Amino acid sequence: MANIACVILGAGKGTRMKSNQPKVMHQVAGRSLLGHVITAANEINAQQHCIICGPDMPQMEAEAKSFAPNATLAIQEDRLGTGHAVSMAKNALVDFDGTVLILYGDVPLINPKTLKNLASLIATDMPLAVLGFETPTPKGYGRLVQNDEGNLIAIIEEKDATDEQRQIQLCNSGIMAVDSKHLWPLLEKLDNNNAAQEYYLTDIVRHCVDQNKQVGIAVCGPDEVAGINDRRQLADMEHVFQTKLRNAAMDQGVTMVSPQSVFLNADTVFGTDVTIEPNVFFGKGVSVGDNVTIYANCHIVETSIGEGALIGPFARLRPGTDLAKNTKVGNFVEIKKATIEKGAKVNHLTYIGDALVGEKANIGAGTITCNYDGFGKAKTIIGKGAFVGSNSSLIAPVSIGDGAYVGSASVITKNVPDDALALSRAEQVNKPEWAKRFRAAKLRSSKTKNSKKG
Ligand code: UD1
Ligand code: CA
Repeated sequence: MANIACVILGAGKGTRMKSNQPKVMHQVAGRSLLGHVITAANEINAQQHCIICGPDMPQMEAEAKSFAPNATLAIQEDRLGTGHAVSMAKNALVDFDGTVLILYGDVPLINPKTLKNLASLIATDMPLAVLGFETPTPKGYGRLVQNDEGNLIAIIEEKDATDEQRQIQLCNSGIMAVDSKHLWPLLEKLDNNNAAQEYYLTDIVRHCVDQNKQVGIAVCGPDEVAGINDRRQLADMEHVFQTKLRNAAMDQGVTMVSPQSVFLNADTVFGTDVTIEPNVFFGKGVSVGDNVTIYANCHIVETSIGEGALIGPFARLRPGTDLAKNTKVGNFVEIKKATIEKGAKVNHLTYIGDALVGEKANIGAGTITCNYDGFGKAKTIIGKGAFVGSNSSLIAPVSIGDGAYVGSASVITKNVPDDALALSRAEQVNKPEWAKRFRAAKLRSSKTKNSKKG
């Protein structure tokens, strides 16, 4: 197949989203709509990406580059129609020779196989191919008009269509593949003599036919090319995506006790024999190894979970958490930017941030790594097999040696050598019979008060 470049239309403000963000920056399964579209293009090895955006959409550049480092942005100052929008990519793609795929930034469910199929139609005598879909409710879409031989001869927008043309149920998805040699000359032929007074991309079909070239049609299901216009559709799309992601995870060996309560990210990676209890949220960048169990109510972002680990219930794993094989992270534990090495346990009510916890170390309930002084973060290092007693505060920067013990309720401000015991709490004083005397004194004084009142 020829080289592929893609042009992604995203200049629309998305007024119905009622948002200060460009529409394509909104997210489904934790990934922007734009990110989904670029990911689909990447899967068919698109070498170049040009994203058409409106003025004042600077955030789109970084987003596009995070999915395709060489992506370029072209700004469409005035929104004069889809044909005008595509022509904005000319500077970026002027040296490109191959097939240009035109994609919509707000159509995130598009399947890479469909795009491949569409692009493969491009040939010397067929410089243009259109992705269509059939629907019993075609209102609002451009209609694909075919001649008696079934060849595509024009796309007519709803606004410009005759009553007869409006009966057609084969619609334009908007997605097209065009031979780059033909694209720019075809765009130059466009005018805005139509109901919307816009430069319609769809008119390149007519101009292609006028030049005695054929125009191909690939057909996909309507769901794949569904667009997003408002937040309800965004929520519906989330539902569709989540179902897809959960099914893919289950098909691959993940048990979900209550799949509909588990929220996945488009990039979540699972091993086999993973079990997930209800109400677990996965943000971006999470990988889960084989034989891991995640108990109910966990929130996990940018975390790697090693084989055999047991997580939760009620654990919060924040960015930069790296859990090695057979680790245990229990209830009400928060971990951030920390590595927990093989077999270490952090079982209850603990905060571990900016830390390294060595192999088989045991972190007692209520341990806090005090990593922040209001200005900067400092690191805590806990050695192999160390034992940190409950309710200890480890004031970073500090290190606890291999095999060392920290007595419960200690406040540790100095490094603890290997195999030492660190204690930093007031020594206990027992006063015999003190409580008895205390109670007796209280009782006497309350009796005197009462007798005075009487
Ligand atoms: C377009 C198609 C129609 C198709 C429908 C599918 C044309 C003329 N019509 O209609 O045949 O059935 O999509 O959804 O192409 N955009 C820009 N700059 C512009 C105009 C649009 O970037 O100047 C972008 C929008 O952000 C959007 C996409 O192009 O992502 C489509 O624009 P929209 O105005 O929604 O086109 P439709 O009228 O729906
Ligand atoms: Ca539209």
